[in-house]
Amino acid sequence: MTDRWSPSSWRTKPIQQVPAYPDQGELEAVEHQLSGFPPLVFAGEARKLKRTLAKVGQGEAFLLQGGDCAESFAEHSADNIRDFFRLFLQMAVVLTFAGASPVVKVGRVAGQFAKPRSAPTEKIGDVELPSYRGDIINGIEFTPDARIPDPRRQLMAYRQSAATLNLLRAFATGGYANLENAHRWMLGFVKDSPQSGRYDELAERITETLDFMRAIGLDPEAHPEMRSTDFYTSHEALLLGYEQALTRVDSTSGDWYATSGHMIWIGDRTRQPDHAHIEYCRGIKNPIGLKCGPSLKPDELIKLIDQLNPDNEAGRLTLIARFGAEKAGEHLPALVRAVKKEGRNVVWSCDPMHGNTVKAGSGYKNRPFDLILSEIATFFDVHRAEGTVAGGIHLEMTGKNVTECTGGARAISDEELQDRYHTHCDPRLNAEQALEAAFLVAERLKKEKLARGRTVPAAAE
Ligand code: PEP
Ligand code: CO
Repeated sequence: MTDRWSPSSWRTKPIQQVPAYPDQGELEAVEHQLSGFPPLVFAGEARKLKRTLAKVGQGEAFLLQGGDCAESFAEHSADNIRDFFRLFLQMAVVLTFAGASPVVKVGRVAGQFAKPRSAPTEKIGDVELPSYRGDIINGIEFTPDARIPDPRRQLMAYRQSAATLNLLRAFATGGYANLENAHRWMLGFVKDSPQSGRYDELAERITETLDFMRAIGLDPEAHPEMRSTDFYTSHEALLLGYEQALTRVDSTSGDWYATSGHMIWIGDRTRQPDHAHIEYCRGIKNPIGLKCGPSLKPDELIKLIDQLNPDNEAGRLTLIARFGAEKAGEHLPALVRAVKKEGRNVVWSCDPMHGNTVKAGSGYKNRPFDLILSEIATFFDVHRAEGTVAGGIHLEMTGKNVTECTGGARAISDEELQDRYHTHCDPRLNAEQALEAAFLVAERLKKEKLARGRTVPAAAE
């Protein structure tokens, strides 16, 4: 690899998962237009996230990353964004209080539009059409017209991201995220769910804590961290022309930043060391994620780390393990060991979604809740055994009451998947299931904390 990097140097490399735009001139015109649009996020915010992720790497905070598999134009509404954000806050509060750990909140949101596909075409009956690649590229309708990549969709995705981010920023800083509101974050349908009692109990404890603070003369209102929260955005940096157009120099440092989102990640299908996606990501200074699936070998991972984080900067690189419940125990330890042996600073996070996709008897893509929990448990077990930090989880989830994954406390069955199966791509946890997962992770986090508390003094003797 040559060392000269520029926002466009990825164009000289081999590339996977590129849409076949019929009109290159139109594509270039859109990219040109985008390059003059305002940045969606700022370099200073990305740097702050990086510093916080450095703490996650040390075991001093926990990363919660989650959201839609694919955002869509059809589901863009204030209600959806509010329900998603509210669920996120609930999960974060569960992890913070029950797990006794500060939570770094990173949404798969405000830019998560482009999808890698395992096959370039999709066949229904006798008809074969190009695959749907996310609303930023083509349409989900199974018609020849909809499936033609249309560059103008990038402008719509940009504008939707801006509007989404605007509302999220208002929610995060305008009082909605105030801890005093913990009771009110309870979603309508979660209210009478198996999780509601546990959540209400927790919200009660928060209220008591805030009352106690007031009683001893500490005014929670005087602490901005009680009234607002830091919420960050992330997405897969798949559509590199779009990313390039939003890559800007930070005037304070002279460094290049992706301004399409605070954190971007490289998908499991596009992480070839000499290819375009790695080339693009190595040059921007944002915190980045790298999906690690079953085909990734330890020496290849170290090589990728060399490329993506040559200065071994803490918080720069999050490795997102997504092996599947059955394979995680076989693959993860070797990678964790190699990274530890080489002394590389990384955050390890667990995506228990993408390795656990199975076809349900009903024909729907499904992710059984038990498999998701099992991969999370293995993730924690491996890190406990290796003496490394289980830093976070990465979930596909929605604030809505969908039926896309079987199981959970309400035991959604295979037959029920058809009831409210709305995802534009992969099946997501619904709000109840996501909250249930947060409670289970919180219990595990607490256990890990206790275990560390016990082993540290013993090791020091
Ligand atoms: C995703 O996160 O939606 C995705 C496609 O993941 P992966 O690259 O791990 O398959
Ligand atoms: Co997905």
